[in-house]
Amino acid sequence: MSSERLAVVVLAAGLGTRMKSERPKVLHAIAGKPMLRWVLDAAEALTPEKIVIVVGPGQEAVAAAAAPHASVVQQERLGTANAVEAARTELEGWHGIQGRGDVLVLYGDVPFVSPETLRAMLALRRHPDGGEMIALGFEPADPHGYGRLILDGHGNVIGICEQSEIDADPQKSAHGAIGLCNGGTLLADGEVLFAMLERVGNDNAKGEYYLTDVFELANHNARRTQVYVAPEEEVMGINDRADLAAAERVAQERLRRKAMLEGATLIGAETVFLREDTVLGPDTVVHPHVVFGPGVTVARGCEIKSFSHLEGCTLAEGAVVGPYARLRPGAEIGVGAKVGNFVEVKNARLEPGAKANHLSYLGDAEVGAEANIGAGTITCNYDGFAKHRTQIGAGAFVGSNSALVAPVRIGAGAIVGAGSTITEDVADDALAVARGAQTQVEGGARRFRQSRSSEE
Ligand code: UD1
Ligand code: CA
Repeated sequence: MSSERLAVVVLAAGLGTRMKSERPKVLHAIAGKPMLRWVLDAAEALTPEKIVIVVGPGQEAVAAAAAPHASVVQQERLGTANAVEAARTELEGWHGIQGRGDVLVLYGDVPFVSPETLRAMLALRRHPDGGEMIALGFEPADPHGYGRLILDGHGNVIGICEQSEIDADPQKSAHGAIGLCNGGTLLADGEVLFAMLERVGNDNAKGEYYLTDVFELANHNARRTQVYVAPEEEVMGINDRADLAAAERVAQERLRRKAMLEGATLIGAETVFLREDTVLGPDTVVHPHVVFGPGVTVARGCEIKSFSHLEGCTLAEGAVVGPYARLRPGAEIGVGAKVGNFVEVKNARLEPGAKANHLSYLGDAEVGAEANIGAGTITCNYDGFAKHRTQIGAGAFVGSNSALVAPVRIGAGAIVGAGSTITEDVADDALAVARGAQTQVEGGARRFRQSRSSEE
């Protein structure tokens, strides 16, 4: 019997010792998103009635990251079967384990299982003669370390043999040759699963309660078990930082591919780093070595040149940025506007056609349409206590190396002479120069040189 009801249990109580980190393993980020979030996103895509996260003692941060989903604490890390058992009370109020729903178990350190794969497992389970328990299998290039799936002639999973058992028990060493491995994800009739869990023992090499034992037990109880095979990259487990870097490669590869299929050109795609929420419009060109932080939206036809770093910003159509530009949160670059090398923009808006081409800091500012910001211009937005705004009108021209001390307004069409320190508002169409007047002493240089050489 199968039903449409579904609860998900995510196991995240492991110590993650091999990460050698103060931070719980499942909170390490892949493409800027915590590993646990990847798993929860896949789970949420199935719209289950309930999601329960199993955390270890003291892992409040993991529980907080999983909120509003319920979490339970596995008091002692006695193994994956014991971890699922820890969720029993949380699920008891739910109909599932009285036989009216399915339970999907996901491992918090297996981040890339896709909703499509999970749906395929559900379809197998819900097929009229589908199994009561479905394992997610995969065929890794190197099966060492994974549990091996033992099948009978009808495709039933009659047991899963852990690597530790293969290593410890000569009678099981032949299982080492099996290439089909356990991905960790399991889908089962809730009642069957929890009945089998009661019978799992810990008489094995590690002295742990292995979740994987439920397959052999289910078979002994004449329950039908099956396997759904997924691609390896969906099932990769993260155990150490090298695995984390491998996962980052997989995630970036997917994000780059998606961006390119949506019409952006990534020159040297393997050197461009994206976030899941990065939006690149069609015909936008991203040059090599550009890094996107969270919250970047780029319209069509923009160009982002090498070594630029962008986060929390928007680029309107045809904007050109970099090389070596830094766009920080709140930067809004208007249609056809230009931000050149070594220019930092924060919480500032450049209207269409405005240009800041070299060596500037524009913070808490508005720059009007077609205004030109000369090299080295700085908006002095912070007085040590508060931030103040700088407004620059349309068509204004700010000469090189000017300091605009906010709050201050430069009028539309105004010109600021190079090297000015502007502390007062400048009227529309006015010319403002605020620097020491130049003096000149005729022949002064010559006399200086002569006085020096006569001293020798
Ligand atoms: C597990 C599987 C193995 C499978 C592999 C896939 C078991 C016994 N083995 O091995 O068949 O090939 O995953 O990656 O399940 N956890 C708890 N509480 C515990 C122990 C573990 O919550 O007491 C959690 C961990 O946080 C982790 C997951 O369960 O998210 C898997 O545990 P881990 O120790 O990494 O199992 P593997 O040795 O990788
Ligand atoms: Ca693991």
